[in-house]
Amino acid sequence: MNIDDLDTPTPVIDLDLVEKNVHRAQDYANRHGIALRPHIKTHKLPEFAHLQLRAGACGITCQKIGEAEVMADAGITDILISFNIVGRAKLERLRSLARRVSLKVVADSEAVLRGLSETFSGEMRPLPVLIECDTGAGRCGVATPEAVAALAKLVTELPGLSFRGLMTYPPKHRLPDVAGWLEAARAACRRAGIDVPEISSGGTPDLYHAHEQNMVTEYRPGTYIYSDRSQVAQGHGTLEDCALRIVATVVSRPAEDRCIIDAGSKTLSSDTQGLSGFGHIVEYPQMGIVGLSEEHGHCHVPPGSKGPEVGERVTIIPNHVCVVTNLFDRIPAVRNGRVEAMFTVAARGKVQ
Ligand SMILES: Cc1ncc(COP(=O)(O)O)c(C=O)c1O
Repeated sequence: MNIDDLDTPTPVIDLDLVEKNVHRAQDYANRHGIALRPHIKTHKLPEFAHLQLRAGACGITCQKIGEAEVMADAGITDILISFNIVGRAKLERLRSLARRVSLKVVADSEAVLRGLSETFSGEMRPLPVLIECDTGAGRCGVATPEAVAALAKLVTELPGLSFRGLMTYPPKHRLPDVAGWLEAARAACRRAGIDVPEISSGGTPDLYHAHEQNMVTEYRPGTYIYSDRSQVAQGHGTLEDCALRIVATVVSRPAEDRCIIDAGSKTLSSDTQGLSGFGHIVEYPQMGIVGLSEEHGHCHVPPGSKGPEVGERVTIIPNHVCVVTNLFDRIPAVRNGRVEAMFTVAARGKVQ
């Protein structure tokens, strides 16, 4: 089958670009002695998790237990869950998972730690925990280095847990601040008599600067495998690196300045990532995707340009690729225009 035989709208993965993106990041990490633990929330494919491990990754990162269960079922044995696990149902699933793979988790409060400890106190192997630090992104994470040391101490005291280190999802392009924060947190732990074996950071925008923070032992990039319009806007590579694109068909030209494609919010998602428009049209870069209905993409054809005809196919680089992969059961992958695989997105929709 050829790429032109695929029905639209559909995402299409370019395997050569995926392999290039994976190996480039791994080579960089190897050169700098940083362990790479890719986040699978971008691709949600066991096949690509295995590709990343074969390339040299030390393990994978998942956001949700459901994602980790899918990856464990696919034979992956080293998993970090980078999300606070709260509530009886999830804790019981976590315990079952920890009996079959090497599992680490994060926590940023006493309440989360006590839930983990109660669940794991009777287990043979203690659960390794990293304390999540808010180094400026303002999402989860302990607010001060001193509070990190206090929680690290609590981990060493609670039954069923072992202290593994620190984790952060840092603000973009603020490496010196993040490094200063992590250094202060490690020093506070050491003053409390606690060794910090691992410091895990992440994010694609600063991937190729990870080595500038010499305390970081592990890095968790996710979007780098496909990249997207938002990553390029943040300075990561170029649009040519984007390995997942959406093929759509022009279904209407109701006015000279308007073109409607068959990719709406159910295909592109309505997540703009702060950019103007909902994606970059490769063949018509001057034509903006200015609005979305569920099934319709509303494009503006600028004055003086002809724009595409009804029936023409266009290729779109999405603003945020991780949400696009959550919208499709199956995604074709091509090499040199030929369809080489049809992947089932096994970890899509695993939000629990
Ligand atoms: C905890 C955590 N680590 C790593 C990543 C990967 O970030 P990126 O997709 O920018 O590479 C994310 C993304 O949301 C994340 O939440």
